[in-house]
Amino acid sequence: MRAAVQTGSDARAAVQTGSDARAAVQTGSDARAAVQTGSDARAAVQTGSDARATLRMRCDAGLARQNPSQARLAGRNAAEAGFTLGHEEFAKLLGTTAEGLPEITREAIDAHDFRMTPLAGSELRAVEDRVRAALNAPLPVSGPSRQPAWEAGWGDILARFAGSRDLADLEPHYFRKPSRTMRVLGRYVRPQSPRFEASFVDVLQTWLAARWLGEATAIYEFGCGPGHNVAAFARLLPERPIVGLDWATPSQELLDLVAESTGYPISGRRFDMFAPDRELVLKPGSAVVTIGAMEQLGERFEAFLGFLLAQAPALCVHVEPLHEMYDASDPFEQAAKRYAERRGYLRGYLPRLEFLAREGRIELLEVRRHLGSEFHDGWGSLVWHPRRKNHHGSSQDDR
Ligand SMILES: C[S@@+](CC[C@H](N)C(=O)[O-])C[C@H]1O[C@@H](n2cnc3c(N)ncnc32)[C@H](O)[C@@H]1O
Repeated sequence: MRAAVQTGSDARAAVQTGSDARAAVQTGSDARAAVQTGSDARAAVQTGSDARATLRMRCDAGLARQNPSQARLAGRNAAEAGFTLGHEEFAKLLGTTAEGLPEITREAIDAHDFRMTPLAGSELRAVEDRVRAALNAPLPVSGPSRQPAWEAGWGDILARFAGSRDLADLEPHYFRKPSRTMRVLGRYVRPQSPRFEASFVDVLQTWLAARWLGEATAIYEFGCGPGHNVAAFARLLPERPIVGLDWATPSQELLDLVAESTGYPISGRRFDMFAPDRELVLKPGSAVVTIGAMEQLGERFEAFLGFLLAQAPALCVHVEPLHEMYDASDPFEQAAKRYAERRGYLRGYLPRLEFLAREGRIELLEVRRHLGSEFHDGWGSLVWHPRRKNHHGSSQDDR
């Protein structure tokens, strides 16, 4: 089911340096957290030669979790003067090598500005104060009560897109805010471009399409919002039927308009992950995607997980915050962990999948943190597939 990763001829690890002479990323042996991806999609995290904290945290499914302490060390060493995310750095964040990046992903990286400056001194203290203040302030908590807010938000985008029919207008409001501070490789950084996070999403979409979705007979994005990922996957994977599902009704209207404007084979369908529609039958060989959507379920993911297990898609690809991967002993990590808890973000899903993997009911293929915005690491990947029961009642891989 996994798509072959296309590699281009020029497998350079280009490091972009800005005209303001920000230093290029150092990828020396002590700054490197090289990530190898085995043929069985296990991702073992290795550190460089002077790795102070060589740690292999193999979960029961046979894959290692990215170690935040290692990433932090690498980030601190690499980022003393300012740095960027080029091919090498993206490869590490995504769990491959620069050569393993699909051509389309390399092009997307090159097309954007990922330069950044690590925060220090008063700038760092200001961010830490802001994070502390947010943690002590009332924060909106995800869950059923937030449904009207999503209706309203996507309603605004519907009005905008209906007028312009410009796919760029599908972009959610949270990517339109300037990326003032990001969490990258274990530290706060100030991106050069206000569109840093939106640019990261552009790159990620190409990676997901090439790495995981290439062989899917159809793609279902649950919690798809305005459909910007659906439209991107339709562009990257022509002719592929793609369904965008969300509990907010403007989402379906948006997808209808996008289909009408572009001719893409996409459609929308109303779906509540808290109360899955059992009438929906996923196409055999299809892939399920969620991006920042299960995040909103908090600890109430069981109904949706039950739906996925019953439907047995060929692959489930989640890009979500991974609560259990925070290192609670580190203040930088702890702040993000507490923020995610205050917002009621996804929690307990990874251990639940690990349990199912131990039981032989699913296979976990990837668990990986990428990076985060100011308050928490919202960008992580969790990829798995259900194992189908054979007629003797035991589980077997269905691929
Ligand atoms: C942060 S947005 C992510 C949207 C989109 N996937 C993206 O990448 O920008 C969360 C989305 O999940 C949807 N959502 C939240 N809870 C849901 C539920 N119980 N069922 C279906 N959709 C839900 C919201 O309506 C919203 O579109």
